[in-house]
Amino acid sequence: MVKRFGISLDDDLLSGFDTLISRKGYQNRSEAIRDLIREALMEEDWRTGERIGTGIVMIVYDHHQYNLAQKVTGLQHSHYQVVVSSLHTHLDAHNCLEVIILKGKGGVIREIADNIISTRGVQFGRFIPAATEKKPHKE
Ligand code: NI
Repeated sequence: MVKRFGISLDDDLLSGFDTLISRKGYQNRSEAIRDLIREALMEEDWRTGERIGTGIVMIVYDHHQYNLAQKVTGLQHSHYQVVVSSLHTHLDAHNCLEVIILKGKGGVIREIADNIISTRGVQFGRFIPAATEKKPHKE
């Protein structure tokens, strides 16, 4: 069931919001506000760490660096129940881009992601929380 409610905003805030959502391609304010609320709720789920979630780790590293590729692979094998999939791309003669999809308790996933990203020699790393379970899907 969909419920309606009103929001009071001052002109500046509203015009800033309208500019933002039109740049992002939203068709209307309701859809933009729904996404903001979903994002906030998802963030809260991740913060508590108990809910099952899916997240993506992206790292860039030089595979020539001593033992680094083995360490990154080793970390994934140590948590094989949580690592859903990984994609390895050879960017050039030295650098590798690896994308790892994790699924499990939010707190556990975040810890594994931090371990991978903080591995010595990893040049660039990001963790992106993608979704948590038992939340309304986008219509
Ligand atoms: Ni490679």
